[in-house]
Amino acid sequence: MRLLVTGGAGYIGSVVAARLLEHGHEVVVLDDLSTGHADAVPAGAEFVQGDLRTDAGRVLAAGIDAVLHFAAKSLVGESVARPGLYWSHNLGGTLALLEAMRAAQVRRIVFSSTAATYGEPERVQIEETAPTLPTNPYGASKLAVDTALAEHARMHGVGAVSLRYFNVAGAHPDGNGGWLGERHTVETHLIPNILGMALRQDGQLSIFGDDYPTADGTCIRDYIHVADLAAAHLLALTACTAGQRTIYNLGCGTGYSNLEVLTACREVTGRDIPARIARRRPGDPAVLIASSERIAADLGWRPERGLRDMVADAWAFARTGLGAR
Ligand code: UFG
Repeated sequence: MRLLVTGGAGYIGSVVAARLLEHGHEVVVLDDLSTGHADAVPAGAEFVQGDLRTDAGRVLAAGIDAVLHFAAKSLVGESVARPGLYWSHNLGGTLALLEAMRAAQVRRIVFSSTAATYGEPERVQIEETAPTLPTNPYGASKLAVDTALAEHARMHGVGAVSLRYFNVAGAHPDGNGGWLGERHTVETHLIPNILGMALRQDGQLSIFGDDYPTADGTCIRDYIHVADLAAAHLLALTACTAGQRTIYNLGCGTGYSNLEVLTACREVTGRDIPARIARRRPGDPAVLIASSERIAADLGWRPERGLRDMVADAWAFARTGLGAR
C-alpha cells in the first residue's frame, strides 16, 4: 500500500514509518518539523515538509491508500499553559486532514490517540468502555478527534481505528546502524530523563511524589515498547472497516512504579543515578494501567517486550547522543 504518515519525523511516527517500509509498503511522510527531526524520517520514505492544514490535500491527491496520523502537539504541561495551540493543532489540523481525505476519497485512517482521554480512572485496568474525562487540554483535544472520527465514519463511510497509547518507551533500529528514539527539546518523560542523567553522569532525578496510594508511594504507569506499538499500527491498518470507528487501548497490562523504573535504569546502565523525592506534579494520576484485551481478542496483538527491553533500547538510543541531554 502507499501510505501517508503524518508526523513521521517524530518519535512514534518515525518508528511506525520504518516498520511499514520493512513490511514493503510505500511511505510518504508529512511533517512540519516543529518538533520532529528530518534525519528521523526513515531512508526509503518520501518526505514532504508541510502543514496538515495547507499541504495534506496535495499529498493525498497524489494517490494514498490510507493515513496513519501522528502529527500533534503532545506535552500535557504545555497544553495546560497554551490550550489554544492544542485545539488548533490537534483538532483543527485533524479536521483539515479529514476534509482533505474526503476530497481525495481516502477512507482509511489509524489515529494516534492517548490514555490521557480517560483522565483519572475509576478502575485500575482501563478498558475502552471506561468514562472519558480528560484532565488537560491535550487529552481533551485527542478525545475530540476520536469523536470527529466516529462522525466521519458514520457520515462519510470512513474506516477509522483510534489507538490509545499508555506510556511509550524504547527505541527501534533505523536500518543504518543507528536508532530512532525519543528526543524532545524539553524532555519531561521519566525514562529519557533518567537516561539523560545516566549519560551525563550529572544531575539528580526528581521523583514527583512518594505519597500516592501505591506500594512504594510513587506513581505507577503501564509502559509499552515503541516496536510493539508499531506492530499494533500494522494490524490496525488491516482493521479499518468502512463506516466504523474502533478504539483500542495499547499497554502491557502491567504497572511499574517510578522507583521500579529508576531501579531498572540503574541496572541496565550500570550507573548510579542520584534521585530525590520532590513534590507531586499537578495532574498526575496515581495509577494508569491498560486493559489491551480488546485488541488481543480482535487482532491477536500482544506485546513482546518488557520494561528492561525498553530501557535497554532507550539506552542504546541515548548513547547515540541524540536523546535527552
Ligand atoms: N516523573 C518523575 N520525574 C520526572 C519525570 C516524570 O517522577 O522527571 C514521573 C511522573 O510524575 C509520572 C511518571 O514519572 O508519575 C511518568 O511520567 P511521564 O511524564 O513519563 O509520563 P505521563 O504518565 O505523565 O504521560 C503519559 C504520556 C502522555 C499521556 C499521559 C496520560 O506520555 O502523552 O501518559 O496520562 F498524556
